[in-house]
Amino acid sequence: MNFQISVNGKDYSVNCEEKTPLLWVLRNYLNLIGTRFGCGSGLCGACTVLLNGVPIHSCDTPIWSVGDKEIETVESEENPTLNKLKSCVADLQAAQCGFCISGLLMRATSLIENDQKLDRDSIAHGLDGHLCRCGAHNRIIDAVAQAGQQ
Ligand code: FES
Ligand code: FES
Repeated sequence: MNFQISVNGKDYSVNCEEKTPLLWVLRNYLNLIGTRFGCGSGLCGACTVLLNGVPIHSCDTPIWSVGDKEIETVESEENPTLNKLKSCVADLQAAQCGFCISGLLMRATSLIENDQKLDRDSIAHGLDGHLCRCGAHNRIIDAVAQAGQQ
C-alpha cells in the first residue's frame, strides 16, 4: 500500500505493508536512522518519536495508524525545544554511547513543552520508561533541567 506521511515538515510517499512499524519506515525507507531500535516491544524507549507532539514508540506503531499526523524525529532542526536539549546534552556531555539519547530527547521535548516547572524528580519520573544501559541518567536529567530553564 502507499502511504503519504509527513516527517519533520517534509512530505514522503512510502510503499509498504500496512502493518510495517513506523520505526522501519523511518530507518529503512527514509534513511532517518537517528531513531533507534532497542527492544522492539515498547519497553525501552529507544524508538520514541513525536506524533502531533505526543511521544510514542515507533517500534509498535504500524504505519497505517499514523494517518496525517505530523511525525517529528531527532533529525528535526526546526523545534526550538529539541534544539536547546541537543545543545545542553552536548554541553554537559550527558550521553555516553548515545544509543538511548534520541528517544530521550524526544520524550524530554514533550516534557518541557508541557510543563514549564520541571524539577529533577519530575524529569526523572517523566523519563522513567527510557532505559540507559550506560547509566548516564543523572547527567541526562541535568541536561533536561538546564534546557527547561532556558
Ligand atoms: S525499541 Fe521501541 S520501545 Fe524499545
Ligand atoms: S548513553 Fe549509552 S545507553 Fe544511554
